[in-house]
Amino acid sequence: MTSATSTKGGHDPAHQQPIYVYEAPVRIWHWTHGITFFVMCITGYFIGAPMDSVPGEASDQFLMGNIRLIHFIAAYAFTIGVLVRVYWAIVGNHYARELYFLPLWDMTWWRGFFHEIRFYLFMTREMHKYPGHNPLAQTAMFLFNGLGAFFMIATGFALYGEGLGQGSWADVMFGWIIPLIGDSEAVHNWHNLGMWVILSTIIVHMYMAIRADIMSRQTSISTIISGWRMFKDDLP
Ligand code: HEM
Ligand code: HEM
Repeated sequence: MTSATSTKGGHDPAHQQPIYVYEAPVRIWHWTHGITFFVMCITGYFIGAPMDSVPGEASDQFLMGNIRLIHFIAAYAFTIGVLVRVYWAIVGNHYARELYFLPLWDMTWWRGFFHEIRFYLFMTREMHKYPGHNPLAQTAMFLFNGLGAFFMIATGFALYGEGLGQGSWADVMFGWIIPLIGDSEAVHNWHNLGMWVILSTIIVHMYMAIRADIMSRQTSISTIISGWRMFKDDLP
């Protein structure tokens, strides 16, 4: 793609060059991850708080069974997606690693982190430009979407192993998590709490994505659709 920069008026095109940030696998993963996540929130909510009764003949009903089935289909899609995303963090571009990798030893990164906190506390009006995530957003992504997804997969498959039975692959791989956390009920509660924590951050995420698109110095939503980050001014 050619750059859409202008050299008129003494502008420095170096600061307006579009940058290819999110490669196709990351973009496709983002939207499938989001959809499967919402399917699991809705079905998971009903697993945790089932309806008191279902109208009609009992033998015609398999409502909770179907809700669990949809939860598990979405869970497999979600898990395969996360595995592909982890693979892409290894083989993809520099920005593909940001979700799983915080450069904690980099002082410039920390300065950016504290600058973003000061910005959101209205202590400075200065907005920085970032081709990838800003350090504060990256930290939130890492904790709630990177580690958060692993937590939901581990606790989810531990519970799934209870249904498949002792000695099943899910029981062998994840069953140890149940005594580690306490008992089955405790794992249910942590799995449920995990949903509410991630969901709260995703509501903020969607708000920030729209807000950044309108008010920041760079594109946001179009970037996670096309992959390209464009900048709205020519200042550093
Ligand atoms: C309408 C809904 C959504 C919109 C508009 C949206 C928008 C965006 C945007 C603009 C970015 C790029 C951020 C940046 O440029 O720094 C992004 C990244 C991301 N979003 Fe969303 N998002 C949505 C839903 C979700 C959902 C439901 C999830 C997870 C459950 C999610 C998880 C993520 C993650 C993990 C990234 C980082 C991508 C990476 O670095 O691999 N998003 N999203
Ligand atoms: C981020 C994704 C996920 C969300 C939001 C989610 C949400 C939920 C919620 C809210 C519950 C009800 C917990 C309770 O009893 O109070 C639940 C149950 C459950 N989830 Fe998930 N879940 C997710 C991922 C997974 C995954 C990856 C699996 C793996 C198979 C899974 C398997 C299960 C199982 C087996 C149950 C218990 C079903 C039952 O007791 O009838 N979940 N989920």
